[in-house]
Amino acid sequence: MLLQVLQILADGQRYTSSQLIRSLGITLVELEQTIKTLIDYGIKFHPAAPYHYQLSEKIELLDRQRILMALSPAIRGKLGHLEILSEIDSTNRYLLEQDYSGQVIAGLAEYQTAGRGRRGRVWVSPYGSGLCLSVKYRYEGLNYALGGLTIAVAVSVGQILREIGASGIQLKWPNDVLWQGKKLAGILLENRTLANQIGDVVMGIGINVNMPYVETRLITQPWTDLQTALGTTFSRNQLAALLIEQCMTACYQYFNYGLNPFIPAWQTFDMVYGKSITLTIPANKGEDKPQSITGIACGIDETGALLVQVGNRKQRYLYGEVSIRR
Ligand code: BTN
Repeated sequence: MLLQVLQILADGQRYTSSQLIRSLGITLVELEQTIKTLIDYGIKFHPAAPYHYQLSEKIELLDRQRILMALSPAIRGKLGHLEILSEIDSTNRYLLEQDYSGQVIAGLAEYQTAGRGRRGRVWVSPYGSGLCLSVKYRYEGLNYALGGLTIAVAVSVGQILREIGASGIQLKWPNDVLWQGKKLAGILLENRTLANQIGDVVMGIGINVNMPYVETRLITQPWTDLQTALGTTFSRNQLAALLIEQCMTACYQYFNYGLNPFIPAWQTFDMVYGKSITLTIPANKGEDKPQSITGIACGIDETGALLVQVGNRKQRYLYGEVSIRR
C-alpha cells in the first residue's frame, strides 16, 4: 500500500484524504496508518490542512521499465532479472537467496528496514531518497580473489559519479566513496560459496541521492548526498541503470583480467595516497585489542591490498579501517 499511496503523491501535488481513499479503495484508518509508516521511513510531508496530504518535494520512484530501457542492449541481454522492491530488510540478503539458474540478477529497493553496512554497521536510507542496489553474479573459477572486486566496484561507482558531474569524488580504501570528506556512497560485497571455486557474489551499493536532513540522525558518520555534490537533482532511474551497467561490466572485466585494469583509475581517486595514516585492524578471536598501524599510504597492489610504508618497510594489508593522521 505504501507504494500505491506514494505513486499518487509522488508528483508533489496536494491531495485530500477522500481523493486518496477513493482512488485506492482503502479506509481512512488504512490511509492514516500508511502515511504514518511513510513518515517513519523518512518521507517528508508539507504541513497541510487536516485530511490533506502533500509531499514536501516530488519523488522520482524507481521504475523497472525505465531502468531496463536505459541499459545498453548487450547488458540488458545478460541481465537475467531485475526486481524493484518497495521495502525489504536488505537487497543483499534478498538477492543472496534468489536463484535464477546462475544468471546475473539485480535488485533495487525504495527502502531497507535492515540495510547492511560494512563491519556490521547499519546502512540508513530514507524511503525513496537513495539508491539501494544489489547485483548478483555467479563466478565459476576464481583466478582473482574477491577482495579485489570490492575495489573494482568502488572504482566503477566513482567513475559513474564523476561522469555525471560530481567532481572531487574520492575513494577511501577499500571502498568508501566520499565527496568533500563526507560519505556519499558505500559498497558491501557478500559471497556465498557453492562449490570449490564456484559461488555467488552480491555487490551491494548504497548511494545517498537526495536525503532529507532531519531523518538521518541514525547515520553515525559525516555524510553528504548526490544532490549536494552535483548542485542539482539527478534521476534515480538513470543512476540505477548506469550503476547496473558499470557494475556488470566491472564484474566481467575483473573475473577475466583481475584488478590491474582498475588500478590507474583507483589512483585518480585515492584519498589517502602519500598521507600519514593509521590503519586499525579489528581484534581477532583471542586478542583483546585491535591492532593499530601507522605509516604512509602508498596505494594498492594488484590484489587490492593497501600498501603502507612503515619505517623503512613497505607492508601490505588486506583488512582494516583507515584514518588520516593530522
Ligand atoms: C558501507 O557500510 O559503506 C556499505 C553500505 C552498503 C549499503 C548497500 S545498500 C544496498 C545493499 N543492501 C544492503 O543491505 N547493503 C548494501
